[in-house]
Amino acid sequence: MMTAVNSTSPAFNLRTLVRPNILVLEPYRCARDDYKTGVLLDANENAYGPSVLNSVVSQDPTFSSDLIAGLHRYPDPHQEEVKQKICDLRNASTAPLTSSSQLSSKLKPLSSENLYVGVGSDECIDTLIRCFAAPGRQKLLTCPPTYGMYAVAAQVNDVKVVKVNLELGTKGFPVRVGAVLDELSADPDITLVYLCSPGNPTASLVSPGVVEKILAHPTWNGIVVADEAYIDFAPDGSSLAPWVTKYDNLVVLQTLSKAFGMAGIRLGVAYASAAVARILNNVKAPYNISSPTSELALKALSTAGLATMRTNIAAILEQRNRLVIELAKIGGVGEFIGGDDANFLLFRVLDKPDGQPSSPVALKLYERLAQTKGVVIRFRGKEPGCEGGLRVTIGTKEENDVLLAKFAETLAQIYDEK
Ligand SMILES: Cc1ncc(COP(=O)(O)O)c(C=O)c1O
Repeated sequence: MMTAVNSTSPAFNLRTLVRPNILVLEPYRCARDDYKTGVLLDANENAYGPSVLNSVVSQDPTFSSDLIAGLHRYPDPHQEEVKQKICDLRNASTAPLTSSSQLSSKLKPLSSENLYVGVGSDECIDTLIRCFAAPGRQKLLTCPPTYGMYAVAAQVNDVKVVKVNLELGTKGFPVRVGAVLDELSADPDITLVYLCSPGNPTASLVSPGVVEKILAHPTWNGIVVADEAYIDFAPDGSSLAPWVTKYDNLVVLQTLSKAFGMAGIRLGVAYASAAVARILNNVKAPYNISSPTSELALKALSTAGLATMRTNIAAILEQRNRLVIELAKIGGVGEFIGGDDANFLLFRVLDKPDGQPSSPVALKLYERLAQTKGVVIRFRGKEPGCEGGLRVTIGTKEENDVLLAKFAETLAQIYDEK
């Protein structure tokens, strides 16, 4: 008989996984859950209008009065319209399941009941911990080098972090899937695995086959979180989001902060099975997404918004290719250790033009660029496997011109001083 390797783990049990206090939680309900129009005297709002209306609109006629006219009302607690638009976008392209699981079923499309929207994906990261990891008792697993907020949110929630480093020294930093599976077998207190795909700072996709293996772990009762903040810079069809209709123990995170260029509105998305999404929605603050945020999100998700996003992605990828070529010509820039799936590059800086990777030199360069040249990049030399590491976000052509000139000049100065 064939074993079902590519399906939700048989050990997955949402009722025993979710924290008991969350399982019995009566979510906050407002009248607006049921009635959205009419003479609205239910929520102690101020019917006389937003206090900024006159000052902003009369002093700045270019400011959109539409955007602020309704600010005296609480926003939609459920954000159905935003959720539907996001589903439409993601249903249009899906990562193929690996061949064996393709046999077993076709994916159902995502619907709004699969979504939870948060104040950036940072809020989603935190909400998941609050639902599925009991303070002082349970743990989450991360694969460093990775996004720092998983550990910060864990600490805020008094949840320990088990670290299984990525394969260090291998291009693209693959997940050591055997080591992750072993850790999950050994420690039932781990209830969440945070995978970053494409990784920050690795800029590499996690292989879908690896994610499937963890999802199918035969004895582990927990949730795999695939953080896809940078997914739109990866090849089309790389997102695992639609998989949540097949895998009850998968949550996928995305954001409008990166490819959409909307970091200021703070909108993140968690895709999950309807049951898991319901739990996340029960826990959130009733009106966590502001009306300006959802209005602007709808514009970003409109046909025109998506076209602009795609144009900007193409420009970023072109600039990324340019930076790879031009940075590599600078004496002292070493190996590019990250992949090609994000809007940033990760590479090493050497102790001399043909020397060894050096974190002290990378740190000095980072500090001097920020303090004396007005160019701010990110020092990553303390992360595992990132000796001499710098992470550089791809800017506009003009910003990249400045970066290249200042980078070369400052690194040469540092070598001259030695
Ligand atoms: C991997 C990863 N996840 C999540 C986030 C947070 O994104 P948001 O702006 O949606 O909170 C970031 C931001 O840098 C990130 O790099």
